[in-house]
Amino acid sequence: MADHSERHPFLSGLSKHRGAPATCLVIFGASGDLTARKLLPALFNLGADNLLPTEFALIGFGRKALPDEAFREMALKDIGRYSRRPFRPEIWQRVGENTFYQSGGYDEPAAFASLKEKIEAAEKKLGRALQPVFYISTPPNVFEPILENLGKCGLAQRGLGTAAEAKVIIEKPFGRDLASAQELNRCITRNFLERQVFRIDHYLGKETVQDLLVLRFGNSIFEPLWNRNYVDNVQITVAEELGVGTRGGYYDNSGATRDMIQNHTMQLLALTAMEPPVTLDAEDIRNEKVKLLKAIQPLRLDPDRGDAIRAQYVEGLADGEKVPGYLQEEGIAPNSTTETFSAFRLNINNWRWAGVPFYLRSGKRMARRVSEIAIQFRPPVGGLFSSDTRYELSPNRLVIQIQPDEGVTLTTNSKVPGLEPRTQPVKMNFRYATTYGSNTPEAYERLILDCMVGDRTLFIRGDETESSWRLFTPLLDFWKDSGRRGLETYAAGSWGPLAADRLLWNLGHGWRNVGR
Ligand code: BG6
Repeated sequence: MADHSERHPFLSGLSKHRGAPATCLVIFGASGDLTARKLLPALFNLGADNLLPTEFALIGFGRKALPDEAFREMALKDIGRYSRRPFRPEIWQRVGENTFYQSGGYDEPAAFASLKEKIEAAEKKLGRALQPVFYISTPPNVFEPILENLGKCGLAQRGLGTAAEAKVIIEKPFGRDLASAQELNRCITRNFLERQVFRIDHYLGKETVQDLLVLRFGNSIFEPLWNRNYVDNVQITVAEELGVGTRGGYYDNSGATRDMIQNHTMQLLALTAMEPPVTLDAEDIRNEKVKLLKAIQPLRLDPDRGDAIRAQYVEGLADGEKVPGYLQEEGIAPNSTTETFSAFRLNINNWRWAGVPFYLRSGKRMARRVSEIAIQFRPPVGGLFSSDTRYELSPNRLVIQIQPDEGVTLTTNSKVPGLEPRTQPVKMNFRYATTYGSNTPEAYERLILDCMVGDRTLFIRGDETESSWRLFTPLLDFWKDSGRRGLETYAAGSWGPLAADRLLWNLGHGWRNVGR
């Protein structure tokens, strides 16, 4: 029997990870927000779990001129501030001593030649060849120069075919429409082989998202029901309580559909609805996701009866405090038509799902931060309990709460004890915090580690991003051409505009009260 334990994260446990090869991690965008909040703390926590290779070097690359020492100090401060575990100097000492900084423009070949020298110097210091991992955590306008320069200076081809093969991690956005996504993919594959490429969607690093595969395929009771015969509709909500904060400049060029739906929410959908993969190998899983994405029907673009709606938040309340509307936020064009909320009705035309609507919504400044997938089952046939008002029946529902308060809840109906013939819905509840404790690794820890060991399961393949953009690009163009026409509003701190409810009413559905 084939041994797959080397190739995917679900069966292999930690032993595989302890074997991460000697690595030099280069972070482009070293003084950026993501580096401070997520990447450096993730490295520290990997170190604390003894999961970093013994020979490990870190090089920050940024435009700002900075001595090595200043970058080291910055890293210490960021870890102290953002790590899920308190900073312990003995854990970081070895990494700190092998932390360097390279300043230069992303389009400056000389800076890349100098980066190459720095990697070689680190190898000399550590006494062995290091696998270079290039983490591109910059604004998208410099993705291409970085990729081209890595190709031109030979760093992209380093160690090809060996255990120390160069790898590149890219953060979204992977384009802003189909054409730009294709262009980016062409640039990536001009310089790297697809197997060297790790496109991050940090939702795939979340424990609950990984658990979706185990829930579906590691249990026998759900899969027989997971189809059009038993499922009435599926609702995926990714709601955020925060507004755009200080990211107005980025967000105003993006909007809810590009920022959250096209990537994170579609990944949740793909894992929920795809066919069982033949094995848990990365390519088998990614093939199934692509097949699913391709089966989604093109969106109807009618402004009144279309499959999508969009809205912007206006002034409202968050945590009891008055907060400004989107157009009054810093960095937002006063006449911006960027949507901060969007909702969709998707049809998947395959044997499993034809006729089952998949509803998706995501927004900023909503009533609560909560992400969940709710599978709502059909009512029982026969109507034995439907004639009497004392019988309060709820549809059976399986809710996978991605965050916060991660868990899975199954709603069934039960007889209320007593002589009266009454029923009420009850819940079977599994919470991660109760069962496993709450200090679980952050998405970036898992993803950086998986990249170092060459496991692509939790990363997006080029054709996945293109399939998703193929679906959304005509809509985004249509919205752009429509200006403010059809752009709804909702009060900050609410569950979105009424138009999102109307999207469901047509088929006699309603959004469920999430988190309950
Ligand atoms: C990012 C988006 O990809 O995901 C942000 O750019 C969003 O706008 C964030 O806030 C949400 O991530 P999480 O893990 O907090 O749900």
